[in-house]
Parts: sequence; C-alpha cells; structure tokens
Amino acid sequence: MKNYVLVTGGAGYIGSHTCVALAAAGYTPLILDNLCNSSAKVLDRLATISGAAPRLIEGDVRDRALLDRVFAQEPVQAVIHFAGLKAVGDSVVDPLLYYDNNVNGSLVLAAAMRAAGVRTLIFSSSATVYGEPDESPIPESAPTRPANPYGRSKLMVEECLGDLYRSEPGWRIALLRYFNPVGAHESGLIGEHPQGKPNNLMPFVSQVAVGTRPELVVHGGDYPTPDGTGVRDYVHVMDLAEGHVAALRHALAQPQALLTVNLGTGRGCSVLEVVQAFERASGRPVPRTIGPRRPGDVPAYWGDPAAAAEVLGWQARRTLDQMCADSWRWQSGNPEGY
Ligand code: NAD
Ligand code: UFG
Repeated sequence: MKNYVLVTGGAGYIGSHTCVALAAAGYTPLILDNLCNSSAKVLDRLATISGAAPRLIEGDVRDRALLDRVFAQEPVQAVIHFAGLKAVGDSVVDPLLYYDNNVNGSLVLAAAMRAAGVRTLIFSSSATVYGEPDESPIPESAPTRPANPYGRSKLMVEECLGDLYRSEPGWRIALLRYFNPVGAHESGLIGEHPQGKPNNLMPFVSQVAVGTRPELVVHGGDYPTPDGTGVRDYVHVMDLAEGHVAALRHALAQPQALLTVNLGTGRGCSVLEVVQAFERASGRPVPRTIGPRRPGDVPAYWGDPAAAAEVLGWQARRTLDQMCADSWRWQSGNPEGY
C-alpha cells in the first residue's frame, strides 16, 4: 500500500520542485491544489523528471469535507502545506482574502489532520515574518514583526500551529522560513511561472533576458549596501525542496517536535550581482535602469542557516551561477510558461 505525503499547493513553484525531491528520496507525493496559481500541465513534466506523475486532487484546502474524504480514503503519513497566496501587494489590497486563504486554509487543514490522526506537518513560512531585522544573518530567535498582511498571515499560522503542538502530544510540526527561492529544476522542465508582470527579481530578469520585457528597473541604487542596491539571501529552489525532505525525515523520526528553521544560504547578494550572474548564465544583456526605492523594501538581509545544518543536516549547496543557469534553461525553453 502506498503511503502518501500530501502536498498542498504541490502544482505550484516550490511544491512541484519538492515533489521531485520527495520522489527522489523514495516518498510518494499526492498533490492537493485548486490550481488558482498553477497549471495541471506540470504533472506531465513531473512524470518526465521522476518517472511517474504524482496524483492530483483538484480542490481547495479550505474544503473540510474534501479533506476528510482524502484522509479517509488515502493512506497519508504526513502533509507538506504550500497552498497559499503570496503577493505582498495584493495582501495589502485584500487582506481578508489572504487571511481566509492562508490562515483559515491552514486551520481547516490542521483540524482535518487532527480528526484523521495525521500529526506530521511541514509548513511554508517565510523570512518575511522578521520584517526589518536588527541584524543579519537573522537567527530564528530574532524578533518577528511582519510589515504586511501576507507576512502577518504566515506568523499567525506559525503561532496557531505552535499552540496546537502544545495542546496535545504527538504532533511533529516544522515551520520553515524561506528566504528568496529562485532557480528551477536542472532539466528546465519545471520552473516559476508568474501570471502577469512579475513582482520578484529573478523572474523579471529572466523575462528581460528572453526579450519579453524591455528592461529591469532596479528598485533603489542608494541603499547602504556595497553597490547601493538591495541585498537578499537567494536560495536555489531545489536546495529548498531538499530542505523539505530533510525536515520531513527529521520530523518522522521524532515522537513529537516543534521546529522553526530558516532555509537560506547565509549569504547576501545584491540586485546588480544577480543581474550580472544572469548575464553570464544566459549570454544575453539585461538592460536596466536605476529607479526609486520600492515602498516597504528592506535594504539588506540574509538568514542564519546554522539551525538547519545542525538539526536537519541540511545546507544549501547550489551557487548563484547555478540558480541563474537553471532559471535561464527554464525561461528560454518555456518562454510562455507551461
Ligand atoms: P505558488 O503560487 O507557485 O504555489 C502555491 C500553490 O498553492 C499554487 O499551485 C496554488 O494554485 C495553490 N493554492 C493556493 N491557494 C490554495 C487553496 N486555497 N487550496 C488549494 N491550493 C491552493 O507559490 P510558491 O512560490 O510555490 O509558494 C509556496 C508557498 O511558499 C506559499 O505558501 C508561499 O507563501 C510560501 N513562500 C513562498 C516564497 C516565494 O518567494 N516564492 C517565499 C516564502 C514563502
Ligand atoms: N527588485 C528590483 N526590481 C524588480 C524586482 C525586485 O530591483 O523588478 C529588487 C527588490 O527591490 C529587492 C530584490 O530585488 O531588493 C528582491 O526583491 P523580490 O521582490 O524578488 O523579493 P523580496 O525580498 O522583496 O520578497 C520575497 C518574496 C516575499 C518573501 C520574501 C522572503 O516576494 O514574499 O522574499 O524573504 F516573503
């Protein structure tokens, strides 16, 4: 009998890459996704990479009756919960949508898990819970002060899951705070496919390199950083995917656990460093102009990945050049996405 890892949001960017890493580690992913920000076409690509496509249950994580049916009918040993909305600007415009999808969705899922006796949960949190940090690298013990509804939705879920863990024995919960996931699977078959104009740096840079957009606007060239542009901790999405497998393996080996772990490289890269690495990887110029600072942006931060290494035995190993080369392979092979 198969023993599934239920991957909510598994058709999306990080979820699809995690399905590859799960399969490579001998787990069988079962995807639950409402496809609000992804395409079922990813399944064929996953079949090519992993030899078999994961099953997709098309549905919403807020649908309690559906979740009860899934847990009753399928042998699920653990859940990795990616399903959520992630656009910071949209969360400011429509906070209730974000709290409903991200917070309520997580609560419905956790309640269904409790009813079914499935108590192993890996949750997609974000470094955005730190807000503007006092120092970098940021340890997990740093104060949390998210600056927008998206970030608050992640922190609320972390707190709810912490209370759930303390309320009854046997829960194994990992709260994974991602820094900036970029890149794509090395096959170039799966990658990030933002709808409309990308908000994030790497998909924007790749669209400029491939010719879909004329130029990059660098949001601010006067930050107190070595070259004046913003600094972030970019982590390859396959490293991140492998971090989920490490967290799952660790959690399953514990009688109970509540972990909060950063997933990042521990290194900061500036916007211009990313642009230059992308030009090297693609062999294409990336025209750019320096524009004003983007409201709400933090000048510079990167994570302290020591806990992930100590507790999970995980370290990011792919370089910025690999992140750019793999993004380019995906973007140039799939200029229209899936
Ligand atoms: P994504 O949009 O590509 O993937 C999310 C998936 O969840 C999509 O396939 C979407 O269709 C699905 N989904 C959304 N709401 C759903 C619902 N109510 N029911 C069922 N499915 C639903 O985003 P991603 O970049 O892969 O992010 C995955 C998770 O990681 C999210 O929770 C996000 O907040 C978190 N995260 C992402 C980043 C990042 O920069 N990409 C950084 C930190 C944290
Ligand atoms: N940037 C530009 N031009 C662009 C886009 C971005 O110069 O067109 C700059 C930003 O100003 C910033 C850097 O590139 O200095 C990275 O910006 P991103 O939008 O790619 O990423 P953020 O660090 O702002 O935020 C991302 C996700 C959040 C998540 C956070 C986790 O968007 O959801 O990482 O650290 F919470």
